[in-house]
Amino acid sequence: MATVLSNTPAAERKWPEEGFTRVPYWVYSDPKIFQKEMDVIFGGRTYNFVGLECEIPNPGDYRRTFIGDKPVIFCRDTDGSVRVLANRCAHRGVKLCYQEHGNTKEFICPYHQWTYQLDGKLIGVPFRRGVKKQGGMPADFRMEDWSLQAMKVEVRNGVIFASFSHDMPSVDDYFGPLMMHYFNRVFDGRKLHVLGYSRQRIRANWKIKFENIKDPYHASLLHVFLVSFGLFRADTPAKVENDPTGFHAIQAATRGEQKVTSENLDIRQLDPDLKLQNPDMLQPFPEWVSKGTETVVMHTFFPNLIIQQQSNTVAMRQIRCFKPEEMELHWTFFGYETDDEAMTMRRLRQANLMGPAGFVSVDDSEVMESCQSGLSRYPEAKAVVEMGGRDTENTPHMVTESSIRAFYKAYRQIMGL
Ligand SMILES: [Fe+2]
Repeated sequence: MATVLSNTPAAERKWPEEGFTRVPYWVYSDPKIFQKEMDVIFGGRTYNFVGLECEIPNPGDYRRTFIGDKPVIFCRDTDGSVRVLANRCAHRGVKLCYQEHGNTKEFICPYHQWTYQLDGKLIGVPFRRGVKKQGGMPADFRMEDWSLQAMKVEVRNGVIFASFSHDMPSVDDYFGPLMMHYFNRVFDGRKLHVLGYSRQRIRANWKIKFENIKDPYHASLLHVFLVSFGLFRADTPAKVENDPTGFHAIQAATRGEQKVTSENLDIRQLDPDLKLQNPDMLQPFPEWVSKGTETVVMHTFFPNLIIQQQSNTVAMRQIRCFKPEEMELHWTFFGYETDDEAMTMRRLRQANLMGPAGFVSVDDSEVMESCQSGLSRYPEAKAVVEMGGRDTENTPHMVTESSIRAFYKAYRQIMGL
């Protein structure tokens, strides 16, 4: 994709004077802005979702993943603890771990075979004392100075978070009571099991995805499938709640009866002429409503996690950043140890809504690329974000962009813009 980028350095960028009701398009394409985000957001004082504990049940189990644009490994140490390590040899920076996942006793660099324990400690340097009394590392070379870079790790009800900063509050304090209330609703202590993965490269800036989940305005307009088959529409009972920092938010709705009245006739709605070949997908079990909670909750946990709960399909969506105008969305679909076979089948069927080819998500991926493609050519132009007013209040409806405004209020602070 040909892109026109302004060469103005990040420090000289000036946010539009209207404040957070405007988003300048250079935030989605400027390489200097992207680099600063990788340093101060993903590489700074934030908690990033890394993986689920159930993905590494046994000592030596490991998986590769990313924090922002930085490759990392998460693994189960011999003492049962979870480690998150930079996927980068301390010697020459080589990527150590090539397999997507596996089980190992140690990580060995392919270049010079420097060898590390599961906690990242360096335990082997070939020819350290030379060969035939020639060469070797200096006498004062200390193995303990050259461990793999280890992240601060916190595991919360089966979910692994990590930070490049070791000076962090707890995960509970970082996300705050509103977000942890909704987190605990999905992660209530039951053991999890992974149902499958999907991933997709999207030629759009990472924030466009994060905003997409903070944007309930589009749900009943773009997602024809949701509306046509009665899963959601503009007058579905719904709410938007922003946490006080502005970084995190929830968008929640409770699917009710889809009655047609004189008041809602003009709202695009259920199409009785459309039928699915297999209607099982649209028969959700009232799993959450029976617990007195919403049928759909979309959570944004800044900076890299979206927790999706739509009917019975639950998944982690991890945002991986590769370039200013390219990201990867990595989905981990899961269920609970208490699920019976019918529930597992239900979760799997409903997973068809989501993922790269999902009946709903495919619309988002397409429109996000179109968004990037349009705005990249006009870095000095700006978005208007005024639906639902000019503030960041919580609302008992979804006809608002208040979570996007709240996000940019917070983003400008962390980025110094
Ligand atoms: Fe969407």
